[in-house]
Amino acid sequence: MKVLGIESSHDDTSIALVENNQVVHFFKISQTDIHQQYGGTIPELAARHHFHNYYYLLEKLKEVTNLHQIDYIAYTKEPGLIGSLQMGHLFSHALAKALKKPLIDVNHIHGHIFSSILDTNHQIKYPALALIVSGGHTNLYLLKSSQEKILIGQTLDDALGEVYDKVARVLFNVFPGGKYIDDIFSSYKEQKIEVKLSDPKLLNLFDFSFSGYKTQIINLYHYKKVDAIQLALAFQKQVVDFIIAKMKLAINQYQPQSIILAGGVSANSYLRSEFLKLHSHTLIPLMKYTTDNGAMIAIAAIEEKLK
Ligand code: KG4
Ligand code: ZN
Repeated sequence: MKVLGIESSHDDTSIALVENNQVVHFFKISQTDIHQQYGGTIPELAARHHFHNYYYLLEKLKEVTNLHQIDYIAYTKEPGLIGSLQMGHLFSHALAKALKKPLIDVNHIHGHIFSSILDTNHQIKYPALALIVSGGHTNLYLLKSSQEKILIGQTLDDALGEVYDKVARVLFNVFPGGKYIDDIFSSYKEQKIEVKLSDPKLLNLFDFSFSGYKTQIINLYHYKKVDAIQLALAFQKQVVDFIIAKMKLAINQYQPQSIILAGGVSANSYLRSEFLKLHSHTLIPLMKYTTDNGAMIAIAAIEEKLK
C-alpha cells in the first residue's frame, strides 16, 4: 500500500511516498533561510512559499513515480499556522480529486509520534509512552494503541524548541537555535558547568515548564554578565536532565512496552543519548525525520487508519 504524505503546517513544505515503514520518495523544501532574517517564522510569507513549493515538489514527484499508483493521500489537518495548513488542505484536496484517491487527515503531532518507525523494522509496542518535543509542542502521551492516545503531561508555558530558539537568540543572536546550542554542548563536553539554574515545581508530575529557565538565562546574561557559553551548557544540561527525570517517573508509573521520543528537538544529541538509556525498546526517528516532513504524515495515516 502506497501512501503519499503531505505536510506544510509550519515552514517546511514536504511530500513523501511511504510503503509499509519504508520511505520510497522524499521531498522537502525548508524555508529556514527565508525566515532567518526576521528572527522567526512570518506566517503570511510561509503560506505564500508553500503555494509555489507544492507545485515544484509535485513536478519532482512526477519525474520519479506514476501518481496513479498511489493508494491514499494523507495530509496534515492540524495543528499549525492557519495559512500554512490551508495551503496543504487545498493542495491535498485538489490532488485527491484529480487522481480520484481517498484522502486521510492526520494530526501533525501524531505524525511526529509515528516518525519514530520510518525506515526501520521496528513496531511500536503498546502501551507506549511518547514524548513529543518541537518548536510548538511539548506533550507526553500514554498510547494504549495506535488510535488511543492519552495526554498525561504538557508544557504549561513555552514549548521546548521555542525556548531553545529564544535562549539562542539572546545569547548568540541566531535562529533557529536548537542545533546551535546543541553543537556548543558537544564542542565544550569537557568544560565544567559552573551555573546552576533552578528547576520548576509543578502540581502535575508529568507537566513541563521551560519559561523559567529562559528568564533565568536572560537575567544572568544581561544583569550578571555571565558567559554565554556557560549559560548555553547549563541550559541544555538542566532541561534535558529535568525531562529525563520526568520520563523515569512516568515509566515507573505506566510500565510501557516501548518509549518514543520525537519532534524537532529529538535531534538533540544529549537528549537522544539520555533517552536511549531509559528503556530497552526506545524509538527515536532517524535525524532526517526529526523535523517536519511528509513521510511522518503518511506513516501516521497507515498506523492509525489503514492497519
Ligand atoms: O518539529 P519541528 O521541525 O517544528 C515544529 O513543529 O515546531 O521543530 C523545530 C524545533 C526548533 O525550535 C529547533 O530549534 C529545534 O526543533 N531543534 C533542536 C535541535 N534541532 C532542531 N533543538 C535542540 N537541539 C537540536 N539539535
Ligand atoms: Zn512539528
